[in-house]
Amino acid sequence: MSKSYGTLDASYRAAGELAGISKLVDAFYDYMQELPEARGIRAMHPEDLTESRTKLTYFLSGWLGGPRLYKEHYGSIAIPRAHSHLAIGAAERDAWMLCMEHALDEQDYDKDFKRYMLEQLYVPAERCRQACAVSRRDN
Ligand code: HEM
Repeated sequence: MSKSYGTLDASYRAAGELAGISKLVDAFYDYMQELPEARGIRAMHPEDLTESRTKLTYFLSGWLGGPRLYKEHYGSIAIPRAHSHLAIGAAERDAWMLCMEHALDEQDYDKDFKRYMLEQLYVPAERCRQACAVSRRDN
């Protein structure tokens, strides 16, 4: 990738630091409330999304090379394991990605960075699906 988004805090800065990430996550959960395709994954979340918004914002801060706020506030997390109790299949993974795609679209980001984010976020999203498939098989 020409702009080296994966190095040091380049992605964190491209995302607009904490204020930018928080805006992205707010848009993401707003789409989750609105999009018919996301009704199923919305229903998996608590009624009040305030903590979900904070947790995803904090997680993405560290994930993008900025301050590791999730770890500081909540401790270590392995994203696939944190989702393995949920029923996430391909449709749920795609619904999550769709909310993120819409949210990214309305940010004032470079086109390249939007594409980079979607590609990179697909990796943990797909790992969540796999972790759920494995844990269902074990039950
Ligand atoms: C694959 C589709 C996904 C679905 C359907 C999904 C759904 C959920 C749900 C239902 C929760 C629990 C909310 C709660 O009880 O408070 C959650 C928590 C969380 N998710 Fe996801 N998620 C997905 C992918 C991801 C990805 C790709 C990331 C990170 C890049 C992520 C980051 C988080 C974080 C940080 C939490 C908070 C965990 C905690 O502290 O308990 N999720 N997710």
